[in-house]
Amino acid sequence: MEALLRPRIIISLTIIVIPIFLFISGASSHQIRINNAERRIDLSTHIVKVFLTLKVENTGKTSASEILLAFPPTQVDHLAFLEALAATGKKKKKTYVSLAVKPTQLPDAPNETNYYTIVLANPLNTGETATLEILYILTHSLEPFPVEISQSESQLVYYRDSALILSPYHIKQQTTFIKIPSNKVESFTRVEPTDRAGNELKYGPYEDRPPYSYSPLLVHFENNNPFSVVEELVREVEISHWGNLQITEQYKLAHAGARHKGIFSRVDYQSKPTFSGVSSFKHLLARLPPRVHSVYYRDEIGNISTSHLRADSWKISELEIEPRYPLFGGWRATFVIGYGLPLEDFLFESSDGRRYLNFTFGCPLVETVVDKLTIKVVLPEGSKGPSAVVPFPVEQRLETKYSYLDVVGRTVVVLEKKNVVPVHNIPFQVYYTFKPIFMLAEPMMLASAFFLFFMACVAYLHVDLSIRK
Ligand SMILES: *[C@@H]1O[C@H](CO)[C@@H](O)[C@H](O)[C@H]1NC(C)=O
Ligand SMILES: *[C@@H]1O[C@H](CO)[C@@H](O)[C@H](O)[C@H]1NC(C)=O
Repeated sequence: MEALLRPRIIISLTIIVIPIFLFISGASSHQIRINNAERRIDLSTHIVKVFLTLKVENTGKTSASEILLAFPPTQVDHLAFLEALAATGKKKKKTYVSLAVKPTQLPDAPNETNYYTIVLANPLNTGETATLEILYILTHSLEPFPVEISQSESQLVYYRDSALILSPYHIKQQTTFIKIPSNKVESFTRVEPTDRAGNELKYGPYEDRPPYSYSPLLVHFENNNPFSVVEELVREVEISHWGNLQITEQYKLAHAGARHKGIFSRVDYQSKPTFSGVSSFKHLLARLPPRVHSVYYRDEIGNISTSHLRADSWKISELEIEPRYPLFGGWRATFVIGYGLPLEDFLFESSDGRRYLNFTFGCPLVETVVDKLTIKVVLPEGSKGPSAVVPFPVEQRLETKYSYLDVVGRTVVVLEKKNVVPVHNIPFQVYYTFKPIFMLAEPMMLASAFFLFFMACVAYLHVDLSIRK
């Protein structure tokens, strides 16, 4: 996902763009018209993905450099990811340019509408059109109903949205498709024309809808996918210049689906797997980097041996882990995964002589939401001037960690992000400078410890001998 914007760009753009924007914003919503909008909402897992294609036209008298996206307040709170690409060229030769997107406040926003501004790469002149491809991801947006289910029941959920795309612009024509995991739909709102074919609902086409048109829609459907949410994940990545990268990951995992009610019968669970506990999860899959070694997996009680590592030494290693009990709605599991990696796969030297770690952000568990992620990169002792480069905004701070044999402690670069989804599993870097002389610190400490011990022995013997005399 090269398409994400860098924090530095956002800051500079915000400074430049806000004053200009306030100046032109009054005019811009009359200036832009959406000729065609197609929205595809994918509800097949518990992470909602929305693909929006907008064909926009500048119908105003001056050129336009920005397009506004509008979100109802309920969605903004759950927005984990948003990116916009400009598509150019015809079908087969289409190329995409990633565009800067930033949150924007508008003084007269109706119904607490929230906005994001897409900054066009080239201003759109009067009469010109552009095609934008937008992807946004929502978490915690499927609401289990019934709220509680027993072991033998399927999980049903609600999804709420608007059949008409919320926009500050006039939309000439629009269609929305909603994909659900199976063809088991309890009910769905009709806003004619509305169609259903198998596991897809179609809303529209709707013609000529004025700005801020809204028409609530509710879909009630079966979704037995694992609602796997890590409420808190702390990943520690420790660099040792002796050739190893040691990773320790602490998980607080929850099943965020419909709460389990009644008793849990392991006999039913094992004898009727297709009817019993269909929305629960028994296995978890973690995608780890290639060449992983010394993998362990333990919970509060101790090491768990039911984990299988499938290592394909070139691309990826897959770790399948099995908690002590299957996870039902509302249940939690706390566990730790640890592993080692060869340092040369992740530590490099940049052209200015600094060293840098190039590692993957996010969470190794597949199709999982992380409510709060903390990554702690523990640098070798004696490292100076650390700086992190992450392709999206994160909170950053420094800590110091002491372990035995440390003289001055190790600098820890702490990165924190809320609402993390699988698209955030992309490389980030931590740069630092290091004087190789510090490599000797540990052996020196060891040597001096031995030397002191030796001297103490000599002194003791000496005293001992002199007493005996
Ligand atoms: C658990 O596994 C790790 C790694 O294999 C090992 O170092 C540790 O001693 C084990 N602990 C127990 C209690 O068996
Ligand atoms: C980091 O690693 C990825 C592949 O894992 C690579 O594509 C990328 O160029 C690397 N970034 C830097 C700055 O070395």
